[in-house]
Amino acid sequence: MHNVTEESITDTFLGYFGQDTDPRVRELMNSLARHLHAFARETRLTHEEWRRGLELLRETGRITTPQRDEFVLLSDVLGLSSLVDMMHSPEVGTSSSVLGPFHVSNPPAYPLGADLRREHPGEVVLVRGRVVDTEGQGIAGATLDIWQTAPNGLYSSQDPEQDEFSFHAEFTTDADGGYRFTTVKPVPYSVPTDGPVGTILNATGRHPWRPSHLHYITEAAGFHPLVTEVFPEDDPYLDQDTVFGVRDDLVIHYRAMEPGTFPDDGFSLSGKVEGTWLQVEFDVVLVRDTGTRR
Ligand code: BEZ
Ligand code: FE
Repeated sequence: MHNVTEESITDTFLGYFGQDTDPRVRELMNSLARHLHAFARETRLTHEEWRRGLELLRETGRITTPQRDEFVLLSDVLGLSSLVDMMHSPEVGTSSSVLGPFHVSNPPAYPLGADLRREHPGEVVLVRGRVVDTEGQGIAGATLDIWQTAPNGLYSSQDPEQDEFSFHAEFTTDADGGYRFTTVKPVPYSVPTDGPVGTILNATGRHPWRPSHLHYITEAAGFHPLVTEVFPEDDPYLDQDTVFGVRDDLVIHYRAMEPGTFPDDGFSLSGKVEGTWLQVEFDVVLVRDTGTRR
């Protein structure tokens, strides 16, 4: 077709695909073009606005490094990461949630009951629970890769004062699927706002905050791995997570405990916690891998 019009350009584009185009690539590009063109038509996108959009994408690429992926953050604040995640989350088992950019691979393996708080200030939090299958049977030997912010709101990779694996640890469940450790309560965290994502949040009157959370990657042989995070029920940002990661079953209660009640054994802090402390219980339900899920 040589007379391309505003109406015909989408079909013309689709007609340019080669015969041998992979069917899934065809489906994705087809839909992308239809929605992109519809967006431009619906908003009567101007040259100036289109140029500004491209400039934001260019800046997203310019600021991206192996340590900071602004494209992932853009996808996160647009809700795309969470949408993809939810669409492929199993209907049973614990909900998944965003990985985020601050996971550090190969954290040190700690024995059950170890302490992540070390010299940091703040009330001790005892976290315990089980990794179970969908019938409630404990899964022995499951690994939990746990990470969080320090009390100053920074992940280790953002904070020269913390070592690489500060608040990063791996635990392996006991014979009953149990796990336990101590830490401090994570704090609400602002996503980086000094790049184009900050410009977009600002332009749309959005705040950059995430509710405080503790990240988990749980893996066990024969089960689907689960990337998730848990949030305290009283967090001020629980209903307005800027990356849309909160799900009902990921909301937990930090129970205030009386002085003198910290367990006498089983924890590296046993015998050392005199004041009040907090307790959190969270079970991770994994779904068996039957090889049928897409
Ligand atoms: C986080 O978990 O901290 C996070 C997740 C998505 C975007 C930015 C940060
Ligand atoms: Fe996080």
